[in-house]
Amino acid sequence: MPKSKLRVVLTRKLPDAVENRLGELFDVEGNAADQPFNRDQLASAARRADVLVPTLNDTIDAAILAQAGDRLRLIANYGSGFDHIDVQTARQRGIIVTNTPDVLAEDTADIAMTLILAVMRRVREGSLHMQSGDWTGWSPQAFQGRRVGGKRLGILGMGRVGQAVARRALAFGMEIHYHNRKRLRVETETELLATYWQSLDQMVSRMDALSVNCPHTPSTFHLMNARRLRLMKPTSVIVNTSRGEVIDENALTRMLRAGELAGAGLDVFEHGAEVNPRLRGLPNVLLLPHMASATNEARHEMGEKVIINIKTFDDGHRPPDLVVPSML
Ligand code: DGY
Repeated sequence: MPKSKLRVVLTRKLPDAVENRLGELFDVEGNAADQPFNRDQLASAARRADVLVPTLNDTIDAAILAQAGDRLRLIANYGSGFDHIDVQTARQRGIIVTNTPDVLAEDTADIAMTLILAVMRRVREGSLHMQSGDWTGWSPQAFQGRRVGGKRLGILGMGRVGQAVARRALAFGMEIHYHNRKRLRVETETELLATYWQSLDQMVSRMDALSVNCPHTPSTFHLMNARRLRLMKPTSVIVNTSRGEVIDENALTRMLRAGELAGAGLDVFEHGAEVNPRLRGLPNVLLLPHMASATNEARHEMGEKVIINIKTFDDGHRPPDLVVPSML
């Protein structure tokens, strides 16, 4: 007897090619309206599914997992970060979790570099000025930013994205410094001309720009807290393309307002779409709507990874992108 197809529930609309292929392989329930699920809808989806395909907008905590019932076996996250999923509890309940690493790294690094350049060179202020129609012509004093070449970039979190940022920054003539849980292999440090700092405090106090590229875990929550932000030079800038929770957003806002930091470029926010209104009003910040990985190519490759993870699981093998609690 042919085995029945896995029931795969998608919480958001995915690219057509991805949904079509999933539909050929599995019994798929999509979300054509693309409205994010509320808690009840998410719990109900987790009950109906053999495989749930959530995104970072779906908080899959112990309470949701407790309502999932016995059917759910795999959470195949459409995304690299998995801080919205209680991986420990899932594991205790025999549910495995996968994600989509690697395929977002280069695109995310492009936006991190864009933010570094734009904030150091005051691109947003220049653009706002042009759009206001107030520009009267070139002036020697206007819109002086800081030269990027020769400045020190500190990278907080030197995984795939951090290293991709380092390669770009190196091409712009920046000096690369980093802090990471584990020191890189000497070959990688040599290739990136990267200096390792065991002490994050010492690193941040000496940088001209800081790029946050570590995941959000219990140990990185508010890693850039008020005390550490105050160690940064007042002329320095901070950019974040990882997770908002790594920076204390209120403390950062206060410092930017007080001129204690030169600027910030943020693609992610501590409270998701609820961005501090005071931050939005500042001229020396460039804010983006969590779009660092938003390329057509990345979204398709993320889908390809989801398909491979589910198919491998269905075939009785270990999915390639298994998330294990030691990654937390
Ligand atoms: C992810 O996949 O975790 C990214 O933040 C999405 O851009």
